[in-house]
Amino acid sequence: MIVNIIQDTGVLTAISTILGVMLVIAERWLNNYGDIKININGKRDIVVKGGDTLLSSLAEKQIYLPSACGGRGTCGACKCKVSEGGGPVLPTERPMLSKAELADDIRLSCQVKVKNEISITIPNEIFNIRKYRSKITEIIDYTYDIKGITFQLLDGDTIEFLAGQYVQLNTKSYGKVRQSVSRAYSVSSGPERKDHIQLIIRLVPEGICTTWVHNHLKVGDEVEFTGPYGDFYLRDTDADVIFVAGGSGKAPIKSMLEHLQVTGCDRKMTYFFGAKALRDLYLTDKMRAFEKVFPNFKYEPVLSHPEPDDVWDGKKGFIMPYFKDAIRDANNTEAYLCGSPGMINAVTKSLKELGVPEEKIYYDSFG
Ligand SMILES: Cc1cc2nc3c(=O)[nH]c(=O)nc-3n(C[C@H](O)[C@H](O)[C@H](O)COP(=O)(O)OP(=O)(O)OC[C@H]3O[C@@H](n4cnc5c(N)ncnc54)[C@H](O)[C@@H]3O)c2cc1C
Ligand code: FES
Repeated sequence: MIVNIIQDTGVLTAISTILGVMLVIAERWLNNYGDIKININGKRDIVVKGGDTLLSSLAEKQIYLPSACGGRGTCGACKCKVSEGGGPVLPTERPMLSKAELADDIRLSCQVKVKNEISITIPNEIFNIRKYRSKITEIIDYTYDIKGITFQLLDGDTIEFLAGQYVQLNTKSYGKVRQSVSRAYSVSSGPERKDHIQLIIRLVPEGICTTWVHNHLKVGDEVEFTGPYGDFYLRDTDADVIFVAGGSGKAPIKSMLEHLQVTGCDRKMTYFFGAKALRDLYLTDKMRAFEKVFPNFKYEPVLSHPEPDDVWDGKKGFIMPYFKDAIRDANNTEAYLCGSPGMINAVTKSLKELGVPEEKIYYDSFG
């Protein structure tokens, strides 16, 4: 009896091992698409190993499309026109694509698999996006969950970007996290400082990249990033400006203000910074110093839920009711918003109700 059970178990183990090996071989064989040509803008061909996503295949060839969500299909930043060879549009792409985009063969490059020859169109600016190697030279605790980090470029390298743009950090494996991910972070330093960038990073509980940054990175570590990305930059007009930020959304606005400090600016600018309590405010002295630099700039921190022992006689509650006092002529007002999707939606709605034209409301949503 026992001998029979042992024999049966042995046979089952052998069968499952053989099936396992067959599956691995089949998968390798089925996914072996060989070398595949991607035609870019009708001008240039690159050859990549088939089977990977279009986004990763291009990155392999140092062509970096923005991918703020790290390829999860939730940001829409990686869109590009795939005129041939993209296969059917996947259900994971549809929520991010408008009817007009679908009709124009726009796809999410992080979802499209390269299985056969493909033709794509990408803007020329993409070719300016590069990978940079850097070393961390400073880490500052701004609050209990927000750090400011300085990345010095290696080998005398320099970076050109517009104040307000972002880079994507590539993480390394740490602890139990084996995979490397890429996440977007707005540059907080001004573009005049070309040999280093500073980022402001808020810890997201259980977040892959922010846990790496907050709990594992230290001064002296080498970090890779790509960039610059994005079209969140200050328009060169004479319109009044309303800045609105929460949490680490202070980063791109700090970069814009540092840039304006160099160029000079007499536009009327009001900066509303939303925080829960006193412990969430940071860089307040720096922002107050800008009030002395610019003739027409006001920094307005607003606390939504001050702690009982917070000594605070500034603005309280929601930010939105304070906008109307900052608007002289809604038609001649631009707004720059940065922070959580919830905040951006609520603020956009309120500004539109006050008459600020939708096309003059610019934002970077950190969601
Ligand atoms: C254009 C752009 C610029 C950005 N700039 C900055 C910046 O300057 N500073 C900064 O701190 N962040 C910034 N972000 C957000 C950043 O890219 C990451 O999404 C964030 O740091 C979380 O990454 P993670 O790998 O730690 O978390 P993940 O591993 O991606 O997420 C873990 C979990 O947290 C949730 N989650 C993800 N992001 C958030 C969030 N922001 N708040 C709450 N929950 C979240 C996810 O849904 C998931 O359930 C920016 C995002 C974009 C799109
Ligand atoms: S990288 Fe975010 S949707 Fe493709």
